[in-house]
Amino acid sequence: MGEYRIALIPGDGIGPEVAAPAIDVLNAVGKKFGHGFTFTALAAGGAAIDRYGEPLPSGVLEAAKDCGALLLGAVGGPKWDTLPGDKRPERALLALRKGLGVFANLRPAALLPQLRDACPLKEAVLAPAPPVNSTAGRANSPPAKDPPQGTAGAAAGFDLLIVRELTGGLYFGDRGRSAGGDSAFDTERYSRREIERVLRVGFEAALRRRRKVTVVDKANVLETSRLWREVAQDTMKDYPGVATDFLYVDNAAMQLISCPGQFDVIITSNLFGDILSDEASVLTGSIGMLPSASLGAPSGKSTAVPAEDSGALPADTGMISGATERFGMYEPIHGSAPDIAGKDMANPLGMILSAAMMLRYSFGLEGEALAVEGAVRAVLDRGLRTPDIARWSGRAGQNRGAVGTREMGAAVVKALEEDADAAGSSAPQTLSPHG
Ligand code: IPM
Ligand code: MG
Repeated sequence: MGEYRIALIPGDGIGPEVAAPAIDVLNAVGKKFGHGFTFTALAAGGAAIDRYGEPLPSGVLEAAKDCGALLLGAVGGPKWDTLPGDKRPERALLALRKGLGVFANLRPAALLPQLRDACPLKEAVLAPAPPVNSTAGRANSPPAKDPPQGTAGAAAGFDLLIVRELTGGLYFGDRGRSAGGDSAFDTERYSRREIERVLRVGFEAALRRRRKVTVVDKANVLETSRLWREVAQDTMKDYPGVATDFLYVDNAAMQLISCPGQFDVIITSNLFGDILSDEASVLTGSIGMLPSASLGAPSGKSTAVPAEDSGALPADTGMISGATERFGMYEPIHGSAPDIAGKDMANPLGMILSAAMMLRYSFGLEGEALAVEGAVRAVLDRGLRTPDIARWSGRAGQNRGAVGTREMGAAVVKALEEDADAAGSSAPQTLSPHG
């Protein structure tokens, strides 16, 4: 039993549509497990520009910090696209990430058996064995020789976690224009400390998964990437049980679609993580499926007894787990999708799964997080699909089985209410970044 305060920024486009079912799901969790969730609605992004004339009105950051976690739908849209960079809705998102200090962005992407037909890759690519000579001709690290093992998700298909640095790099460096406006620059800058702290989050996650880390950079060209490699080579010494390799980002982009099963944890910079997570998301069926958790340093308030790392998977303890309460910001990785906004077509599962990550990481409610993830699997088992995940399965054409945002959300709530033992009854397929 507990009382939990959640800051809520529904945002723009489909943001409010996917936020509504996530709130319903959380309220159902509250009822089922005897918790109270209170929501503090805050305006940021385009909605705040319209109402208050600025993307992040004063007081919003402080109000968010006052809560245990921040749940955010999406910001942005064509209406605000012509505004100068520092007045755009996206500024609010970046200022929130920076202001809240949430430097590690966890983006889990696993192929669920239910959505195998929505994955755009061929079956042969999803088979466990990696292709031969996949890096031929590239002056780069080879992919893993062994097919991934250890969890059901990786037996065939893929089950990976992208750990994206979120408060530094190109997104936050100096930028500008020449006087005439005909030349422009953005700067990538990283410090050893910024790199090391996000690497440690990734390595800790790997200890709870299949113990493999791939550091993705562009060290053949960029000085910041060479520093990333240096720091990674030092940091990996503290994790001798984790197999670590390095890939250039261009190669990583290729490997993701030619042999996704080789990856366990990918750790990378802000920009590369943004790009690779969109690529990984579509392999799961749709970008609408992917949740994310953005975490800062733990507050140190322990909410669970940290178990020893026994090697059992998933052992949801340790630095990135719900074992220690910490503030987090939770958002689906998709954007505001203005083209489908207001049409009851958006997939709410990425947002609902983000709420599950919030239960796990900020509130230490692992059983509740598993119950939500189990309910999502249950509705997929029953064949419910929003149009994005019905797309390649033949269902969209026949318009059979495709449901709207509201129906999908209601089905998850119902599955949660019906399943008396959701946490315990689920098969070992996972939606959790702990694999
Ligand atoms: C994401 C989004 C954002 C980003 C945009 C909306 C600024 O693409 O969260 O991946 O680039 O970080
Ligand atoms: Mg993105």
